[in-house]
Amino acid sequence: MKLGFVGTGALSSAIVTGLKSLPGETTPVVVSPRNEEIAAELAARYPDVRIAADNQAVLDQCDTVMLAVRPQIAREVLRELRFRPDHHVVSLIVTVSREEIAGLVAPARHVGKALPMPMIARLQGATIICPPDPIVATFFGRLGGVIEVEDQSEFDALSVVTATYASYFKYLDTIHAWARGQGVPGDKARDYITSIYKALANAPDTAPDEDFMHLAQDYATRGGINEQVLRELTERGTFEAFAESLERVHQRVVGK
Ligand SMILES: NC(=O)c1ccc[n+]([C@@H]2O[C@H](COP(=O)([O-])OP(=O)(O)OC[C@H]3O[C@@H](n4cnc5c(N)ncnc54)[C@H](OP(=O)(O)O)[C@@H]3O)[C@@H](O)[C@H]2O)c1
Repeated sequence: MKLGFVGTGALSSAIVTGLKSLPGETTPVVVSPRNEEIAAELAARYPDVRIAADNQAVLDQCDTVMLAVRPQIAREVLRELRFRPDHHVVSLIVTVSREEIAGLVAPARHVGKALPMPMIARLQGATIICPPDPIVATFFGRLGGVIEVEDQSEFDALSVVTATYASYFKYLDTIHAWARGQGVPGDKARDYITSIYKALANAPDTAPDEDFMHLAQDYATRGGINEQVLRELTERGTFEAFAESLERVHQRVVGK
């Protein structure tokens, strides 16, 4: 594989960092000159990474190209480029459909979408790809895992999951702030919360046949303190409001 990036920003940098952290990894990578600083840093850090003169030079020097510009400028950038029929195009642009990208990168025949997350730099967090594609699946499979999905609607629904990170940290922050309010030193409370939530994150792996609600019930001993918090939040409509937010994000993702 000769890998290229059109748009060298936060996400491209994370993918290259993850890739180049693999032992013995020598895939040649060519990045677009923008962002200048990030491109220069990657080229200085990794001998196999080169900076192309412009976006077209990226395409001319690679067989697999990741599109990683912001959605607002994607159409304008792609219309100026000449793709080859044999280019493998992987769009990371969340809010532009695969169909529209396929039109913009014609005559390229292999066109798919992928949704990697910045933690890919540390080889963590699976990437969803659509449609299934052995080359793209093998690539992301080595960088934290891959989930292949058949159609765009499944891809869009799963991409809504990525809208929940900030609320997750707000949830932890609420616990942390409360503990500090009780006089617990901030770093001690942080260490404890981090340690416990890392352990909880492993629970689905240790009980692969149980769904999330079963895991919730495992912890919600009758009459116990977990049951109390779960019941009180449920009665106040917290989870319903959360599900409604997911629905509104989904409408945005599918462009309604
Ligand atoms: N970050 C995430 O967590 C994440 C996750 C999933 C998907 N995505 C998607 O991935 C794409 C990139 O996201 P990002 O976070 O990496 O954004 P970003 O950091 O803003 O990177 C985009 C890069 O594109 C460069 N650029 C601007 N105009 C260009 C042009 N004409 N040709 C080539 N490059 C150009 C920008 O350079 P300048 O700085 O010089 O303007 C910028 O560095 C977006 O479509 C986003 O939806 C992001």
